[in-house]
Amino acid sequence: MAVERTLSIIKPDATERNITGKVIAKLEEAGLRVVAQKRVRWSREQAEKFYEVHKERPFYGELVDFMTSGPVVVQVLEGEDAIAKNREVMGATNPEEAAAGTIRKELAENIERNSVHGSDSAENAAIEIALNFSDDEIVG
Ligand code: CMP
Repeated sequence: MAVERTLSIIKPDATERNITGKVIAKLEEAGLRVVAQKRVRWSREQAEKFYEVHKERPFYGELVDFMTSGPVVVQVLEGEDAIAKNREVMGATNPEEAAAGTIRKELAENIERNSVHGSDSAENAAIEIALNFSDDEIVG
């Protein structure tokens, strides 16, 4: 195992319900460390660029609408095997399919309002971190 960094987003359904602390506690309990963090409101252009890989999917427009509907908390998580560990603690994309104890099982509302995003590979983690943070904003 290696120390990795991954991008995590706390989505508008969670900022709206004032439960960002609950999400962060779950991540920290899983052994992940927040090394960069900010609460921002994405523009449509930022959301479209971030989710460009899903451009052809039927849910793309609604996903962009949702991700710009309120503030998000973007954060870089660091730890041993951070990419897989974050995905494990988040649970399946659809909260109905998420394992007990995961963030999405406990906190998410549905497949769109699913509270968190996490990078799915080392390559995408590097791209997604660079889209959201400059090097000097990652402070350890
Ligand atoms: P996320 O990990 O942020 O990556 C893409 C997002 O699209 C996903 O989480 C879901 O919240 C959202 N989404 C909305 N509808 C669907 C769907 N039918 N299948 C997969 N993802 C969906």
